[in-house]
Amino acid sequence: MSPEDRARDCLLVVFGATGDLTRRKLIPALYQMEKQRQLPDSFAVMAVARRPYSIEQYLAEISDTVKAHIQGGIDKNTWKKITGRIHYQPLQFDRPEDYEKLKEKLGHLDEKLNTRGNRLFYMAVSPQHFGPIVNQIEENKLISRSHGWQRVMIEKPFGHDAITAAELNRTLRQFFEEEEIYRIDHYLVKEMVQNLMTIRAANQIFEPTLNAEHIDHVQIISTEADGVGIRGDYYDKAGALRDMVQNHMLQMLALTAMDMPSLLTAEKLRAEKVRILKSLVPLKPEQMKHHLVLGQYQGYRSEENVFPDSSTETFAALKIYINNSRWQGVPFYLKTGKGLSEKAARIVIQYRLPLGSWSLVETTQTLKPNRLTINIQPQEGVVLSFNTKEPGTVDTLLTVNMDFCQNCLAGTNTPEAYEKLLADAMKGDLASFTHWDEVEASWQWIDGIIDWAENHPEAVKDYAQGSQGPVEADGLLNQDDGCEWL
Ligand code: BG6
Repeated sequence: MSPEDRARDCLLVVFGATGDLTRRKLIPALYQMEKQRQLPDSFAVMAVARRPYSIEQYLAEISDTVKAHIQGGIDKNTWKKITGRIHYQPLQFDRPEDYEKLKEKLGHLDEKLNTRGNRLFYMAVSPQHFGPIVNQIEENKLISRSHGWQRVMIEKPFGHDAITAAELNRTLRQFFEEEEIYRIDHYLVKEMVQNLMTIRAANQIFEPTLNAEHIDHVQIISTEADGVGIRGDYYDKAGALRDMVQNHMLQMLALTAMDMPSLLTAEKLRAEKVRILKSLVPLKPEQMKHHLVLGQYQGYRSEENVFPDSSTETFAALKIYINNSRWQGVPFYLKTGKGLSEKAARIVIQYRLPLGSWSLVETTQTLKPNRLTINIQPQEGVVLSFNTKEPGTVDTLLTVNMDFCQNCLAGTNTPEAYEKLLADAMKGDLASFTHWDEVEASWQWIDGIIDWAENHPEAVKDYAQGSQGPVEADGLLNQDDGCEWL
């Protein structure tokens, strides 16, 4: 076994083991990792939750949902292997004696499996429990600095605003070093979001053109057809700005706009992303009208656990500028929302129209700008549209697409986000996790916008479910230049 393999040996301690995330994402991801032999021999899962189950009762409780979320059918042997690695410990989050028992169990497992003190703590619980659990972990000495590594994986939301995010970070930093904190933004492990960096770094045709001289504007879109479902309680206090824009949308913006680092290491990537996030031009209250559109889908107020007079936005569209020489004057448009016509995410980079030869040809045809589209989901791929001449004519324009569809290729097996997140955290690779500096810069930029939105409920426009969102969103784009949402 190689030293890299051995370095992954660990005990994965999941707090919130009966919750939705564990059933729908974590255990199915571990199943796939087991199937693909990606789990080390010295590895076990300690499932921790409040209910006083035995391991048999725990597995019986979660099995149906877990199985329903495993792609490609259940292989009995793999199921047996992965469930054989799972252990269960009941624990009340605030009861020290429960942590004592957990510590004992972890100690035994550690010895039996030879996991050498390596521990990966996964917080699959509501954010208000993050701090108290981490406190108890430390106080009850579940972390040992004398041997092995200690890491903590934290789900979003990381705070509710800049202040609460900083508080949470302070709590974590009392016990963990920055390099031990794995803040999850699952968009960072989406195949095409990762591919964006390769496309930029490994091709000379795109990178030199990604700047204000060549680019007219950029659109970053992530829409969903579903409504809030069973998450009304959380979502009604969050809204689209906190739920999607502060993290996933700004991360995609940063990866598109940043200068490419000389090496794609976690440290260098983070530094470039932070530079962009700190250069976002703040929106002043008087600018909101032309830079921000908020919406709420009809029927949202009747969703479970949503206030009947809620003004929480389920849709947000923004026009953002970056204050650096590379992107001076180039608008970045962001659009995200629930209850819309389709589930899709893409980044569209629209070029300026060429000056010169084409404009000399006498014609009434309208030239269409080149576009580079990175399709993130459901289709994964890259489309480059450009103009050619229609065959048999002298100068009739034809706009064509060079279309690379990644997930159309037979045999392409895109790993699920949580498989990659767990694999990276076990390896100690921080590149696809967010550093505190990024989280802080994002909150600091968006806090003012959220504040304004909360004080202007009348700004939240109704839209029909299954639509494109409020019509006002079209007004953000420069319609005189024929821009539209793509
Ligand atoms: C989550 C948000 O972070 O991302 C959800 O909390 C949203 O509200 C989800 O539905 C979207 O992720 P994906 O991968 O389905 O596009």
